[in-house]
Amino acid sequence: HKPFKIAVIPGDGIGREVMPEGLRALQAAAARFDIALELTHIDWASCDYYLAHGQMMPADWKAQLQGMDAILFGAVGWPATVPDHISLWGSLLKFRREFDQYINLRPVRLFEGVPCPLAGRQPGEIDFFVVRENTEGEYTNLGGRLFEGTERELVVQESVFTRHGTERVLRYAFELARARARKQLTVATKSNGIAISMPWWDERAAEMAQAYPEVAVDKQHIDILCARFVLQPQRFDVVVASNLFGDILSDLGPACTGTIGLAPSANLNPERSYPSLFEPVHGSAPDIYGKNIANPVAMIWSAALLLDFLGCRPAHDAMLAAIEQVLAHGPRTPDLGGSASTTEMGCAIAELIAG
Ligand code: NAD
Ligand code: IPM
Ligand code: MN
Repeated sequence: HKPFKIAVIPGDGIGREVMPEGLRALQAAAARFDIALELTHIDWASCDYYLAHGQMMPADWKAQLQGMDAILFGAVGWPATVPDHISLWGSLLKFRREFDQYINLRPVRLFEGVPCPLAGRQPGEIDFFVVRENTEGEYTNLGGRLFEGTERELVVQESVFTRHGTERVLRYAFELARARARKQLTVATKSNGIAISMPWWDERAAEMAQAYPEVAVDKQHIDILCARFVLQPQRFDVVVASNLFGDILSDLGPACTGTIGLAPSANLNPERSYPSLFEPVHGSAPDIYGKNIANPVAMIWSAALLLDFLGCRPAHDAMLAAIEQVLAHGPRTPDLGGSASTTEMGCAIAELIAG
């Protein structure tokens, strides 16, 4: 095959510490399974770049990335020097929207060997996907401030739900649920309180459910859904949610399986009109940056999802097997109760991938 063109964007903070391990694993898999990769290393989309240039990315960022087969992304954000909404709306959120990566697929799994904060849960019992809408919903820049600094100060932040945007994420989630053994779909909502958009979201889900009689649909308000992630995580199979609800659920889910340092994500444009982006769920973690103790698994698993998306399922499976084995028996980072460094854990995984 022609080499896969992959843009590599480490970003900020521990994004720069876990990316080398993501690449080590990716390259081990590529060597073993004869996958040709053409990597392009990118130093923009970082707060350092912002401080030097006054913007997060060069003007031609889209042209530079457009022809890529995929983007491997670390994390962006350094709130001590750049406000988060500037750095994120200037990079990651721009990618998601401009490249129409409307699915954010976030697996949640309890692995053998990982201490679970929930009592009595066995590996295999927690195994589900959060399907997060990724281009609209509560994440908008529509609104404004009036009468700043006065008693009349007023702030409005709009949400946007389009029929196109809602139906396509629901359809993706229904298809995913139908393809899985349990065929169970939970629809996150808040139609009791958010009285315009969420009843409409429920209607779209109910309408689509008619086309998927095999899928058992369960509509839950986001508040009790959060409670059930903790109390009954075994009942979930596929969970579909709006942008903000999906964001919250996709930190809560991994926290219930031990650490957010494990959680990967795939920001997908399923039609492949644009490159898709693969990244850990977690951020730049300024509190641990510079110590080489960040868990590299979320980054490595994200790289595995990238290869799977490009059609290399065996490489993905080998990467997952290596992750499972190191979590069960190998060196582990402090968030997993161990004392290994990012590099040690990453090397252990890459060695197993190499076979
Ligand atoms: P965070 O995910 O960076 O960190 C939250 C907590 O989890 C911290 O205590 C951190 O040490 C820990 N943690 C995160 N990843 C870990 C890993 N791999 N191994 C071990 N521990 C890990 O969230 P935050 O503190 O809210 O955000 C920090 C910055 O990152 C902010 O600028 C935020 O906007 C940004 N952020 C970026 C992304 C992204 O790029 N996708 C995601 C979330 C947050
Ligand atoms: C995530 C992150 C981002 C989001 C932030 C950094 C804008 O939390 O990828 O989950 O809210 O989508
Ligand atoms: Mn998040």
